Amino acid sequence: MRDVLTVHGGTPLRGTITVRGAKNFVSKAMVAALLGEDASRLRNVPDIRDVAVVTGLLELHGVTVTRECGGDLLLDPSNVEMAHVADIDAHAGSSRIPILFCGPLLHRLGEAFIPDLGGCRIGDRPINYHLDVLRQFGAVVEKQRHGIALSAPTRLQGTKLSLPYPSVGTTEQVLLTAVRAEGVTELRNAAIEPEIMDLIAVLQKMGAIISVDTDRVIRVEGVDRLGGFTHRALPDRIEAASWACAALATRGEITVLGARQAEMMTFLNVFRKVGGLLDVGDDGIRFSHPGGELSSLVLETAVHPGFMTDWQQPLVVALTQASGLSIVHETVYENRFGFTDALREMGAQIQLYRECLGGLPCRFGQRNFKHSAVISGPSKLHGADITVPDLRGGFSHLIAAFAAEGTSNVRGIGLIDRGYEHFQAKLDALGANYERSEDDARATTRV
Ligand code: EPU
Repeated sequence: MRDVLTVHGGTPLRGTITVRGAKNFVSKAMVAALLGEDASRLRNVPDIRDVAVVTGLLELHGVTVTRECGGDLLLDPSNVEMAHVADIDAHAGSSRIPILFCGPLLHRLGEAFIPDLGGCRIGDRPINYHLDVLRQFGAVVEKQRHGIALSAPTRLQGTKLSLPYPSVGTTEQVLLTAVRAEGVTELRNAAIEPEIMDLIAVLQKMGAIISVDTDRVIRVEGVDRLGGFTHRALPDRIEAASWACAALATRGEITVLGARQAEMMTFLNVFRKVGGLLDVGDDGIRFSHPGGELSSLVLETAVHPGFMTDWQQPLVVALTQASGLSIVHETVYENRFGFTDALREMGAQIQLYRECLGGLPCRFGQRNFKHSAVISGPSKLHGADITVPDLRGGFSHLIAAFAAEGTSNVRGIGLIDRGYEHFQAKLDALGANYERSEDDARATTRV
């Protein structure tokens, strides 16, 4: 397995890269295609492993998926069929997307099987909200040894729902189920992330009737038939922010073509407060280090329009280079600071606390999770042997390795291919000095 990146750090990353469609939208739009009776075309699809996983799952269910050059994906659902449980099971643990197949499969086939889910280990990540809403639509849910079997004895019925927390995945679950249910569905306390708005746009193109009202209320009028769509995926704002933080942490300058201001405003404000420089153009955004000191800040992650939890890890690396004490309060996941162990090994000064620091109390305050971080900087980072813990934490380790003096071995680097398209080619474009090799140290040199 080509799994180790040996990074020679300490030089600024400089250059231009391009981000394509958002991982956390594209996978959902692919599932939406399953609802249509005609073929769909999704544009601006990145070449990442999560897309391959969803492609595999769709193909198991009879959908023909064709990748055309230029990043177009053609999805033809005219022969949807039930997959073999053993085949679905082979995808167990590879992603969290299978849970979103429930509504579309229940509408099309009356049954669905969901393997045990994967995804990043950043907290418990239960699926109780998903199963609750599916039951309220009328689905019968049966837990089995290796997954969950669902059936819809009669057509699913629109219903009134209210989420305990504005969960992104559960809001998508409701949308993908309500569009073909009988009658009206009203969802309160919905998530309203830009990726969800883009999914709503896709569903509307397919013939769905969905309104987004004030105060996180979404209303869906079920229809009998949906067609296909042609849609260009919105850019990946998590990837764009990750590269922005790489520019800040390495004292570099990175132009991210494809990055869009509208979905990144909260991040851009924080980037400016830390001292980063921005140049927003028509084609993308240039992010650069100001040359002098960076400023510390107090921040909490939140659902949209707050500061995304997925921006937190790369930003924390940049904050190790800021002067003074920064406080980051993670309120979306209870366990998303595991990646800081490696940063401490590299010389960062980061303390974790169970209390809600620097902001309002959150749902984790009483639950004994280390979900607040105090970062004291600037710290001189040095190279270390580190192992990628999860997608975003892993990319943060990469940033830290490039910011650090000396050589680091970043192991388990393959995890990053799940969500960062062609990241090695991008590192090359930024003048990065590294080698990727197998664990046995047979290195191929790329400087
Ligand atoms: N939650 C429950 N029960 C549920 C569902 C969620 O308790 O049934 C809790 C979660 O444990 C978490 C909170 O609700 O504490 C929010 O979870 P949410 O459902 O919003 O997250 P998700 O849909 O599983 C997506 C992204 C994540 C991103 C979050 C928040 C995808 C595939 N994943 O996850 O992205 O962090 O929304 O924006 O869209 C990543 O890209 O690296 C990633 C982890």
